[in-house]
Amino acid sequence: MNEKTIAFIGGGNMARSLIGGLIADRHPAAGLRVAEPDAERREALIADFEVQAFQENATAVRGADVVILAVKPNRVADVVRELAPQIQAQGSLVISVAAGVRCADIDSWLGGDRPVVRAMPNTPALVQTGATALFANAAVSNEQRDLAETILRAVGLIVWLDDERDMNAVTAISGSGPAYFFATMEAMQSAGESLGLDARTAHLLTLETALGAARMALESAEDVDELKRRVTSPGGTTAAAIDELEAGDLAGAYHRALHAAARRAEELGQELGDQ
Ligand SMILES: NC(=O)c1ccc[n+]([C@@H]2O[C@H](COP(=O)([O-])OP(=O)(O)OC[C@H]3O[C@@H](n4cnc5c(N)ncnc54)[C@H](OP(=O)(O)O)[C@@H]3O)[C@@H](O)[C@H]2O)c1
Repeated sequence: MNEKTIAFIGGGNMARSLIGGLIADRHPAAGLRVAEPDAERREALIADFEVQAFQENATAVRGADVVILAVKPNRVADVVRELAPQIQAQGSLVISVAAGVRCADIDSWLGGDRPVVRAMPNTPALVQTGATALFANAAVSNEQRDLAETILRAVGLIVWLDDERDMNAVTAISGSGPAYFFATMEAMQSAGESLGLDARTAHLLTLETALGAARMALESAEDVDELKRRVTSPGGTTAAAIDELEAGDLAGAYHRALHAAARRAEELGQELGDQ
């Protein structure tokens, strides 16, 4: 893995996170190349990570074993079509982190039968605590799968999908998921303030409670329903709160919310593929 050359197309937030993660994992900076149109961003990448940064996509891709598409989803089709002859000639593995853009569409823009891995990371990848689902098309070798896994693991947990259609569910749960927790934190903080706490105290207690609950759930051998049961004594304060949440159909609201997100992911994939 360490001797592989990885070219990033787009040097924005996601590319920076992956580069930071790879360097922390001791991947040599000399093997990381970035194409980024903005001169200031290129200078910052060179200064922060000592990687090679180029204005032209074709220059960054020259000789790369892996090409990571880290541009906005609506730019992917043009970028891939421009680089297709070079990627075909080199046999590079293409990894796309662009939300919603399907493997089959990228493969057809590349000319067909090319190895493509689609990754769906989420924003906590920016602080190396991401959750990423990966899907590989049939042209991807075992060695290339390992390579993709090592790269994405640099920014957090990874899971493989056997069926790309599951990406819509992944988008609904972990892709859009950070926003659901932010919305919950916002509501808890506001309720805390309505009980008389100052904003800063309500904010800190909410965030630390969210972190502590997530860490407990990750480290415990018990399911979350058992953890919930253990902190909910009959007739106690937690039970009073949980009764209210259940009366408001919390589970039903999440069910409807995630189904709406998955439907929208399906529509967006269709729109991006029609470009
Ligand atoms: N940020 C996240 O947490 C996150 C999570 C999941 C998935 N993703 C996916 O990751 C991808 C990148 O997101 P991001 O947040 O890193 O976006 P970003 O910060 O906007 O980075 C994209 C970079 O690519 C540059 N660019 C635009 N057109 C280009 C081209 N033709 N060739 C080379 N570079 C080009 C952009 O420059 P200009 O600004 O000048 O256009 C920008 O610097 C997106 O597809 C997104 O769906 C991101």
